[in-house]
Amino acid sequence: MKHPILPIKSKVTFFSTQIYDKVFFEKYNTDFDYELDFFDTQLNEQTVKLISNTDVVCVFVNDVVNASVIQQLAERKVRIIALRCAGFNNVDLEAAKKHNLKVCRVPAYSPEAVAEHAMAMILTLNRKTHKAYNRVREQNFSLNGLLGFDLHGKTVGIIGTGNIGKAFSKIIKGFGCKVLAFDIVTDSEMEKNGVTSVSLETIFKESDIISLHCPLNEKTKHLIDKKSLSIMKDHVMIINTSRGALIQTSDVIKALKKGKVGYLGIDVYEQEEKLFFRDLSEDIIQDDAIQRLMSFPNVLVTAHQAFFTNEALTQIALVTFNNIESLLAQNDIDNKAALLV
Ligand code: NAI
Repeated sequence: MKHPILPIKSKVTFFSTQIYDKVFFEKYNTDFDYELDFFDTQLNEQTVKLISNTDVVCVFVNDVVNASVIQQLAERKVRIIALRCAGFNNVDLEAAKKHNLKVCRVPAYSPEAVAEHAMAMILTLNRKTHKAYNRVREQNFSLNGLLGFDLHGKTVGIIGTGNIGKAFSKIIKGFGCKVLAFDIVTDSEMEKNGVTSVSLETIFKESDIISLHCPLNEKTKHLIDKKSLSIMKDHVMIINTSRGALIQTSDVIKALKKGKVGYLGIDVYEQEEKLFFRDLSEDIIQDDAIQRLMSFPNVLVTAHQAFFTNEALTQIALVTFNNIESLLAQNDIDNKAALLV
């Protein structure tokens, strides 16, 4: 909807822009008519200086929105930080509050997109379809090395039963798994759907597959570390589509080397901001940990693509523009989950 009481076009400046961001945001801007300015660079202490005469900065998962950047945004008279994602661990909310900046996000654009990607990672790691695809193309029809296991009857532990954890629980129930869940807030709806709420320790001890769906914060940082890995079942499968720092990378590498972790699927990585969303195929990667991880035959790395569906990108563009429209017009958003400050 064009806003009748705002005669001057408001400007939205995007950071970390990818081609698909431009395509979707330009498409849906026809309903809002903002002036859009796209930078492909990440927002940080240096690039913040690129901003001029803008009301809104629109950022993504790896943009740096710390106290220093926020101070500079405030000095440049920016009013709104609009995250075009759900997670907000990269934004200093206290600093935003102090400088009177509004911060909004897209709380649930397509939980199914992420949950379905987690499922795809489980199936790939288990049934090795990525290897079968390449083998058959080379006329190698041998099955040796492709042995999988039945998901039916296995115990799957979900950590974090918000929008994505819930969507994932429904999918994995459909495979006939026993589903355990841990969240700091118990959800009775999950119990009704046959999911058993248990302690974090029980998840670690009893699960054949553990899928992480909680946010990254001080309590969840390095949730998967030497200590938690030590009580897990041998050959456990760990799936992380949430945030990289939920896993202590060097500890999981040690556990993979010992065979304690039998399968690891990660769509997110602790140091991903230096790697993901770029084509580095001609570069020498300096990050030895990701190189080690990618060298294991039982590790699957995808580059933060779990959200990447047509439906999700449509929702991201629409909800982001609606958030901005509400904040510019009334300094508030009806959907409280979208408003962080
Ligand atoms: P949500 O806010 O709906 O759910 C998060 C759940 O985690 C809540 O139920 C909350 O109570 C729980 N939680 C918080 N602290 C916890 C703790 N210490 N232990 C266990 N549970 C805890 O969020 P949603 O939409 O389900 O997303 C989850 C995470 O997925 C996001 O924080 C984000 O980091 C990640 N994400 C990843 C994407 C990708 O493309 N890979 C895309 C979208 C989100």
